[in-house]
Amino acid sequence: MNFSWHNPNFKPIIIAHRGSSASAPENTIASFLKAVEDQSDAIELDIRISLDHHLIVIHDKSINRTTNGRGYISKLNLDDIKRYDAGSWFDPQYAGEKIPTLSEVLNICKGKVGINIEIKAEADNRTDAILVKNCLSELKRYRNNDDILISSFNKKILEKIREENSNISLGYLYDPIHNYLRNPVKQTMALGAGYLNVSNRVVGKRLVEEAHDVGVRVGVYTVNTLNQLKKVVQFNVDAIITNDPSRTRQMLEDINKKAPK
Ligand code: G3P
Ligand code: MG
Repeated sequence: MNFSWHNPNFKPIIIAHRGSSASAPENTIASFLKAVEDQSDAIELDIRISLDHHLIVIHDKSINRTTNGRGYISKLNLDDIKRYDAGSWFDPQYAGEKIPTLSEVLNICKGKVGINIEIKAEADNRTDAILVKNCLSELKRYRNNDDILISSFNKKILEKIREENSNISLGYLYDPIHNYLRNPVKQTMALGAGYLNVSNRVVGKRLVEEAHDVGVRVGVYTVNTLNQLKKVVQFNVDAIITNDPSRTRQMLEDINKKAPK
């Protein structure tokens, strides 16, 4: 697998959102392995920092929705986080699945699929600085990180990453509900980010053209229905972030078959 975010060579690429999260519990090793099996081009995962500064792969601030435990990641140590079951809430067949660390996901998936690490910012700058530092030092274990994209809604996080690493691919996330931006394309360029990953809510032909004019690629999340997919394909987007990569690939093939040559 030689996937490179700098030069994906084809489009749109299909990114499994929190892994193949329609078929397996989100942000678990099971969902990432399913995404590899589904022939996704890349996986997307969310990271947060635990009380003892481990990088934890989870979307929400707390473990309440996706495990049988309760509590905030920022208030729990890794050992505590590992005690809980992160699979049963989704389906009993996934009982025993644990919340993974970034290191565990990289050990298993790196080299098999592109990886989009979404950094979820904490409330305070000091903790965010540790999160960025630990994430970059984790990636230093690898000789080649062309298959890694670091994305965030948080501009300061991306600025910090760019300060420390001039080469890693960055993605700026945009949804007006989280971070209203007057000019998302300009801001993406200013960050030195190659990707602007936007919500379904805001993607449009003009935005994609404007991005392409300045060499920024556009991803869109979360695309799960045929109608959404038809719409974003028309806009010529570069990446589709979906909970069901296998179905999305099938739908894409059907759309392309029907398109006039
Ligand atoms: O990377 C796109 C998407 O994951 C951002 O939204 O809330 O699913 O992390 P969310
Ligand atoms: Mg995410």
